[in-house]
Amino acid sequence: MTKSLDKIVSLAKRRGFVFSGSEIYGGLQGFYDYGPLGVELKNNLKALWWKWMTKDHDNIVGIDGAIITNPKVWEASGHLKSFVDPLVECKKCHRRFKADDIPGDKCPDCGGELTAPKVFNILVPTELGVIEGEKLKAYLRGEACQTIYLNYKNVLDSTRLKIPFGVCQIGKAFRNEVTPGNFLFRQREFEQWDLQWFCHPSEMEKWFEFWKEERMNWYKSIFTHPENLGFYEHEKLAHYAKKAFDINYEASPIGKEMEGIHWRGDWDLAGHSKFSGVDLNYTDPETKENYTPNIVETSGGVDRTFMFLLVDAYEEEGDRIILKLNPRLAPYKVAIFPLLANKPQLVEKAKAVYDNLKGEMAVAWDDRGNIGKRYYSQDEIGTPYCITIDFDTLENDTVTVRDRDTATQQRVAISELPAFLRAEINR
Ligand code: GAP
Repeated sequence: MTKSLDKIVSLAKRRGFVFSGSEIYGGLQGFYDYGPLGVELKNNLKALWWKWMTKDHDNIVGIDGAIITNPKVWEASGHLKSFVDPLVECKKCHRRFKADDIPGDKCPDCGGELTAPKVFNILVPTELGVIEGEKLKAYLRGEACQTIYLNYKNVLDSTRLKIPFGVCQIGKAFRNEVTPGNFLFRQREFEQWDLQWFCHPSEMEKWFEFWKEERMNWYKSIFTHPENLGFYEHEKLAHYAKKAFDINYEASPIGKEMEGIHWRGDWDLAGHSKFSGVDLNYTDPETKENYTPNIVETSGGVDRTFMFLLVDAYEEEGDRIILKLNPRLAPYKVAIFPLLANKPQLVEKAKAVYDNLKGEMAVAWDDRGNIGKRYYSQDEIGTPYCITIDFDTLENDTVTVRDRDTATQQRVAISELPAFLRAEINR
């Protein structure tokens, strides 16, 4: 089922997941800010990815590279020449479009005639230095992965890694997109999570297939409806790629691409060796064979994944909105309610349960209005469990635990709550 993006955007703003960037100044196209719940969800997502990459796999280490690099990097990488979009302008209303996005040869807004496409480089330039006329033109990184290639040798020299191995990173990238839009889908500032897997050229096919399946399985493990994910093979390839597949969110109401699996081969290390003059070849410690390592890249969008997770988890049942987020990702794992806010004994008992759990997991507190409304409010932000402290609790030290997805309730002893919730959340 395809869901409306408008509803997701509205929920994201109303409940503090995502706000338009610079909103009080009328906004700035292609920029967004994450709110209190959004930052929790995004951090949970990134922590899960990081653990999966660096702890659940052997031979993968992480780095955190700078956003601005020596501008020669972008010459060597091919981006100064080839990181371009074909741009057309309407001769009548002067609106600009990415030629690839337009079905016919007329302006989609006013039907006017379009100019011939001009290439437009989407790297975002900046200037460094203080003296006018002597400033250095640099670029905000157009893809996060370049800092991994720049540090490939440093990583090798400072660790005990041997080929094959991987270096991963989560970090910001910037693109002067011609047509930013569709909420978080096409932004000018966004976050990528990348793995660069360095291997022997003869093993590229094996590792390409391995990472393609491995990444798909990971995405399937975090989405509410894994059946909504699929592969798309690229016919038109980026300048660095010999073969590429996308992992798509097929039920998207807009674009579908979430992550690219790219056969980069020796493009990057050979290019940086040539432009920097530093030998980035690898000598096998056992066979002494000397070669340029080849690279399989998995490069995904954190913001796109975040948006697709919201779309995938969003459900309506009558007037009730439920975000059926994977409990491991939910901003709050549990919400604590004293049945009545004006009964000190209930509030005190509920506070003790709250204090006991908050050292272990993200816990929300709500004592406003009736219990039904409190459930609705937590359902809408994806809290998987709600706990009510009622008069029975004062008698027998048990609480009502209510499940977000089924709305069923069960009594659990307070002493068993931490173990019960831990098991449910990590199921
Ligand atoms: N290092 C390879 C690389 O950057 P890409 O396909 O251009 O490859 C990888 O980008 C991922 O980054 C995409 O699959 C997408 O999820 C995300 N991404 C790319 N451009 C984006 C944009 N303008 N806004 C949000 N996410 C974007």
